[in-house]
Amino acid sequence: MSNRWNSADISDQTGRTVLVTGGNSGLGFHTCRLLAAKGARVLLASRSPQRGRQARTEILQEFPGAQLETVDLDLADLESVRSCAENLRADLDRLDLLVNNAGVMAIPRQETVQGFERQFGVNHLGHFALTGALLPLLLATPGSRVVNVSSIAHRHGRINFDDLHGQRKYSPFGAYAQSKLANLLFTLELQRRLGSKEADTICASAHPGFSATNLQYVAAREKGSRFELIVMRILNALFSQSAEQGALPQLYAAAATGVRGGDYFGPDRWMQTRGLPKKVRAKETAHDQEAAQELWRRSVEMTAEPFDQLQD
Ligand SMILES: NC(=O)c1ccc[n+]([C@@H]2O[C@H](COP(=O)([O-])OP(=O)(O)OC[C@H]3O[C@@H](n4cnc5c(N)ncnc54)[C@H](OP(=O)(O)O)[C@@H]3O)[C@@H](O)[C@H]2O)c1
Repeated sequence: MSNRWNSADISDQTGRTVLVTGGNSGLGFHTCRLLAAKGARVLLASRSPQRGRQARTEILQEFPGAQLETVDLDLADLESVRSCAENLRADLDRLDLLVNNAGVMAIPRQETVQGFERQFGVNHLGHFALTGALLPLLLATPGSRVVNVSSIAHRHGRINFDDLHGQRKYSPFGAYAQSKLANLLFTLELQRRLGSKEADTICASAHPGFSATNLQYVAAREKGSRFELIVMRILNALFSQSAEQGALPQLYAAAATGVRGGDYFGPDRWMQTRGLPKKVRAKETAHDQEAAQELWRRSVEMTAEPFDQLQD
């Protein structure tokens, strides 16, 4: 792949229908914006209808001809995930791309509606359930893709199968790293299953390096820590790249030609913290097939999403 790929290289997306989770903010917003600018029909999923509408309005002001709809989706509630997928299955006859982008980082311990630790629940389990529920549409769409958004933080992660929800011991960053490793293990196992069924759908993943978004401020705001907020602002100002540039690796995975199932993309400079997309290699822990299979089994159990079409 060329390592100078940027947003101008996104091919014409006319005729493609895409769904982006967390589309109202940061990387998800720019993923929606740039795909809509290239003619895709974009479904911008957001947990807040008001923030979803606001993001849509902003994109339409820049690209008045964009085909952009908002979709309600709270990944912290499996009922919301199911009803979102049900509505989409009823309304759509194709889904070319699902970008599992939404996320929360290093927050104090909280639980989702179904009682999962929130970072594992939103970042991994919600997306796992959404992908499973949308699989019939994806499989019915030639050349469709699933893109999971991970992080450099996966390198510090380990899947704590004995205490997945941090009930005995919780570290905000440890739980984030676990959830981001889970994104990569999910990619590996989903791709293995798609491949063994000779499906035309592929699954790839990406990470944005360090990008200036809302992500870094959520935990500080929840803790009410002005100090942490200021530190995050300084770190962002000194080291981060723009959210638009950070969205490029996931846009590459989503739209570039030659992407293969299981590929992983990140920025090409400064230890993958910034730059233009290139193919990168995840840490060995993300290539552990046994862990990927066990995580899959446990995720099916927890979400009751069977992935019928991909059973061994
Ligand atoms: N920024 C970075 O440097 C960086 C680095 C590595 C990885 N990432 C990954 O990039 C992805 C996007 O994050 P970002 O940086 O763009 O952060 P962001 O600006 O905070 O955007 C996160 C998005 O996820 C949504 N979200 C949070 N909880 C949700 C829930 N329960 N249901 C549905 N949506 C929910 C947020 O909605 P609200 O606006 O309503 O909160 C927001 O739209 C995440 O997966 C993150 O782990 C980012």
